[in-house]
Amino acid sequence: MFRNYDDVNDDVKNNYKQARQYQTIEYVKYMREKYSKFDEKIDILGSMKLLENFVDLSDPDIDLPNLEHLYQSANSAMEAGEPDWMIATCLIHDLGKIIYLRGCDEDGTSMKVQYGIVGDTFIVGCKIPDEIIFCEYNELNPNMKDDRYNTKYGIYEKNCGLDNCYVSYGHDEYLYQLLKHNQTKLPEEALYIIRFHSLYLHHRENAYEHLMNDKDKKMLPILQRFNKYDLYSKNSKKIRMDIKNKITNRILPYL
Ligand SMILES: [Fe+2]
Ligand SMILES: [Fe+2]
Repeated sequence: MFRNYDDVNDDVKNNYKQARQYQTIEYVKYMREKYSKFDEKIDILGSMKLLENFVDLSDPDIDLPNLEHLYQSANSAMEAGEPDWMIATCLIHDLGKIIYLRGCDEDGTSMKVQYGIVGDTFIVGCKIPDEIIFCEYNELNPNMKDDRYNTKYGIYEKNCGLDNCYVSYGHDEYLYQLLKHNQTKLPEEALYIIRFHSLYLHHRENAYEHLMNDKDKKMLPILQRFNKYDLYSKNSKKIRMDIKNKITNRILPYL
């Protein structure tokens, strides 16, 4: 069984607690401003190697380095006969975790403090839904005491679209911005998956239906399709080198 949080270690719990405490609308705006500036084009394949040493503190299912998780996801998409763009998306979807290389403890973007990198996300600027994991921490969020931000709609309009919402900051948003900067050739579907794959409140709980627009409705089933490869491919076995090479070749046209 995946995503079982009943019996998780303190790192996982603490990461969620800190995210709930510190991920406010002010924090998200600050993070987007600070981390969405890139100097030059990023070497995507080269960057993947930098995940070799990164272990996700929020993940109750796996303690392999993140690079292996990427190959496992891509391999399960390939075995399912998915098109190249989906395999490529699986291969890079967590690459945003390299933010730790330019991060710091104070922002929650370091190897040690990861609340600004990993964990399920939620929309800030409106009430945090009770369906969220560890909902007992919701009251720790300062925005939940502010009447501008603690209602169902908060600062948003009905059906305004998730692209127009501020989602709690993490590796999803970082990679989305990085790929935009790189003028990626990946399709719109891939960018949507990358930007919202940690928003389980959306793709699993359907808790943001009132904010979804037509694009979100179109993309939701595709995001759910991706989630199977992200989640159910997790195991402790490493992917063979020849298969890794085969997978890597699928992404080349999109770089
Ligand atoms: Fe992820
Ligand atoms: Fe993942």
